[in-house]
Amino acid sequence: SKGEYRHYMLKEIFEQPRVIQAALEGRLSGNSVLIESFGPDAQALFQKTRQVHIIACGTSYHAALVARYWLERYAGVPVQVEVASEYRYRHPVVPEGSLFVTLSQSGETADTLAALRFAKTLGYVGTLAICNVPGSSLVRESDTTLMTRAGPEIGVASTKAFTTQLVALMLLTLSISKARHQQEHAGIVEALQTLAKVCEQVLVLDGQIEQLSQAFAEKHHALFLGRGAHYPIALEGALKLKEISYIHAEAYPAGELKHGPLALVDSEMPVISVAPNDDLLEKLKSNLQEVRARGGQLFVFADENVGIRSQDNIQVIELPHVHEALAPLVYTLPLQLLSYHVAVLKGTDVDQPRNLAKSVTVE
Ligand code: F6R
Repeated sequence: SKGEYRHYMLKEIFEQPRVIQAALEGRLSGNSVLIESFGPDAQALFQKTRQVHIIACGTSYHAALVARYWLERYAGVPVQVEVASEYRYRHPVVPEGSLFVTLSQSGETADTLAALRFAKTLGYVGTLAICNVPGSSLVRESDTTLMTRAGPEIGVASTKAFTTQLVALMLLTLSISKARHQQEHAGIVEALQTLAKVCEQVLVLDGQIEQLSQAFAEKHHALFLGRGAHYPIALEGALKLKEISYIHAEAYPAGELKHGPLALVDSEMPVISVAPNDDLLEKLKSNLQEVRARGGQLFVFADENVGIRSQDNIQVIELPHVHEALAPLVYTLPLQLLSYHVAVLKGTDVDQPRNLAKSVTVE
């Protein structure tokens, strides 16, 4: 039941600290990841893994895009990410030592399942499913699996399934790094152990985000900007807003602004950005300046230490500092809350958006 919450989506957003903790339970030991979380054969499989192909749809695809940044940076393996409906009709070239990974909340998405069946004919070293539903088709048909443990997700717009997928993908990154290079990333493991707490602190911002949402209720368009691993978070923020508030939203890597979308920016265009404290911050700041200079209205979720403050045409909500590697996960939360409150203001059916189904079992 929804309990004290008005919608399942809101309940599921607030469950995230608990399910993120559940997704980590028994999978870390001291400052190290437990590779056997991925099954008894995982150690041998990851040692053989020279590159990774990740296939998914929708929100799960956005999680896969984040994982590309993580796997390349922290595990040193090249990664390709693709939506299942494209992959399954291509003629993919599969280099030796490629691991095939599917990501799915339901484990029943028709295109993702078809991609897995196709991949099994292509000579991968193994297939891994990261999934939220035990016993689903994807889980049954993959060599090895990791469950995301988010619990049932009722809201059609995925929230806790996405953030627990990110936890699982960070565990995969750490496991491949350890199996291939004996490299532990103790700092990230430590940050994972306090991640649920940081998420709780972010959810306290709900009231502020609800206030902010009023600026969107009358808008027809919105632009989301991010850089690096936060570009997929911008994509996910835009998807959530589209799905439940029916406001047209697009996401761009901030560095692409001047190659086209800047033409859209005027005083009617809200621009939402996430600004964690990372090595792309200065670049992002100058992209935001380009928006301000055209009279765009900026809404920025920023690390409390980076010194971006509210002023004319820019509203800032400060987030607690978080380890750079985990920021994509934490910065997802305020974007979920923003789209939720905009949808409530617009009076849409938040849990059952028009034209969408929770599980897409047909092509
Ligand atoms: C959007 C959403 C969808 C799903 C997509 C794949 O909020 O939930 O985009 O992510 O339909 O579904 P799964 O993850 O079950 O394969």
